[in-house]
Amino acid sequence: MKLINKIKNYINRQVLRTPGVEFFVENKDLNLRKKHLDFWLDKARKNKSFKKYFFSEITNNMSETNFKIYNNNYKITDEMFSSLSNNGLLIIENALPQQERSKILEYFDELKKNDKFEKNWLKKPFNPKFFDEVNEIMGPTSIYNFKVLNEYSSQFSNEIYGKIVEPTVEFRYLKQKENSKEKKTKGATYLHSDRFLPHFKLYYAPHEITIEDAPLEYVLSSHKINNNFINFYLNSENFDETDKEFKNFNFEKKIVCVPENTMYVVLTNGFHKRSQFNGNSERSLIFLQYVERFNKFDYLF
Ligand SMILES: [Fe+2]
Repeated sequence: MKLINKIKNYINRQVLRTPGVEFFVENKDLNLRKKHLDFWLDKARKNKSFKKYFFSEITNNMSETNFKIYNNNYKITDEMFSSLSNNGLLIIENALPQQERSKILEYFDELKKNDKFEKNWLKKPFNPKFFDEVNEIMGPTSIYNFKVLNEYSSQFSNEIYGKIVEPTVEFRYLKQKENSKEKKTKGATYLHSDRFLPHFKLYYAPHEITIEDAPLEYVLSSHKINNNFINFYLNSENFDETDKEFKNFNFEKKIVCVPENTMYVVLTNGFHKRSQFNGNSERSLIFLQYVERFNKFDYLF
């Protein structure tokens, strides 16, 4: 890669990255934390879309999280958006046309075989080494290779961020090596919040995800940035379920087991975790993330 691109990437990833929990890990002082929160949340509140998704009240009459696509109509309805705003989680079954799902499966086949890579990858797939017990291979690609997935992505980023943001797209295939239950690991299999600012991720599962396949678990409505949420960030040490303020998030938990061809959207400033791998787990999952291209600039200017 050219040096100038390397520098650009560094600036995007490190300097302009939307703030996460680092500041709170380094600063325990209550006043400093409060100032930091006030500053960034004040910027976030100015975004009208954020207001709807992260700063409005929770209502009790909208707890349905699961929807299904019929007749190839890939438009997200107001009801779906409202459900996402209220619950922080939206599950869309029968999400893609069969043709696009098949194309996606061909990409995953290359990851499974881990031999030659001829698809439209942005760089050669590799093992990101996130786990000891599990073999994983990850292939980055562009959203423009997948028409309907891109339509969904545009609708959600436009709705949540107030503008269309191009996601980073990662295909991740993993298969467990040992026939045993994985140990709990911090930051992954403990309920945690990714950051204190509005945040979302979109996932697509071409195959069924069962309780054996380390499904996502989400604490419904825990993404709302209210006094409870702010209090958690002011006082937390680990930013996960081991903090004593976590007991204030006494909401319903949902384990996201889904049939094949399902997409799910998660507001990941809310509490979530991956369940533990459980024997012979095998999983193909696409991750769409927006944090690289929706950054400090978007908050400050
Ligand atoms: Fe996370």
